[in-house]
Amino acid sequence: MLKNESSTARDRALDDPRPALPPIDVEEFRKVVRSRRSIRRFTDEEVPGRILDDCLELAMLAPNSSNLQPWEFYVVSTPAIKQRLAEACLGQNAARTAPVLIGIVARTNTWRANSQRNLDEWPEEKRPGIVEKYYSRIAPLHYNQGPLGLFGLAKKAAGLAVGLRRPVPRGPYSPCEMKVWAAKSTALAAENLMLAARAHGFDSCPMEGFDDHRVRKILGVPRDGIVIMVLALGRRAENGVYNRQYRFAPEDFIRRL
Ligand SMILES: Cc1cc2nc3c(=O)[nH]c(=O)nc-3n(C[C@H](O)[C@H](O)[C@H](O)COP(=O)(O)O)c2cc1C
Repeated sequence: MLKNESSTARDRALDDPRPALPPIDVEEFRKVVRSRRSIRRFTDEEVPGRILDDCLELAMLAPNSSNLQPWEFYVVSTPAIKQRLAEACLGQNAARTAPVLIGIVARTNTWRANSQRNLDEWPEEKRPGIVEKYYSRIAPLHYNQGPLGLFGLAKKAAGLAVGLRRPVPRGPYSPCEMKVWAAKSTALAAENLMLAARAHGFDSCPMEGFDDHRVRKILGVPRDGIVIMVLALGRRAENGVYNRQYRFAPEDFIRRL
């Protein structure tokens, strides 16, 4: 469960014992993955707070770039705000009927503060030198694009030259690439959230069909935030699934080298 907001990563990590890897039943995992569907109609049943908190905590255990955790979750259950948000989601049934809507937002400007937090909240007694170097020197160079993205351009040019001789990182070297950078990690958290809800017996619908301008305003998303999706969350109604699930043939998408 989410602990009190002021606890640091270190407090939280020290609370955790380090258990041996638990046995895992892949069939239980398969059940969660296979029974997740995009649900377009929900019942009126509320999602209990402790379940919502657990889903959010599991979402934030998603792998993420350099552990910089560039995500935010705007949990909307206040009816009046939810109604406005549902309208901004183009009045979709999933948004209108869900008891909770979550704006899942990627941030491109929190990496600096979160680099410092990685140093401050390192979960072991001693911080390895490489960690110190990464968050105090490498990350500030790597993620900083400078005014008008000019530093990013310079890094890209340097990378092109050095890259002729050896492998080099090729980005993120522009504000636009920073958006992709933040979106990758945040989308992984979104998937964790959906699977966690399913494991708790609840369901979801990810939505990108929304008026971005209005959604940002309703949620109060900062300028550097990108609304990756709005997630509808609740108990699936009997008519919540619109069609059978299908995917194209796996071999059309898998390249084996
Ligand atoms: C990024 C993203 C955006 C989506 N946007 C919408 C949406 O606006 N409205 C909607 O009803 N479903 C939306 N979906 C759900 C997809 O339509 C759905 O995942 C797809 O049809 C496969 O169905 P399944 O999720 O039941 O397997 C979205 C899914 C993703 C991943």
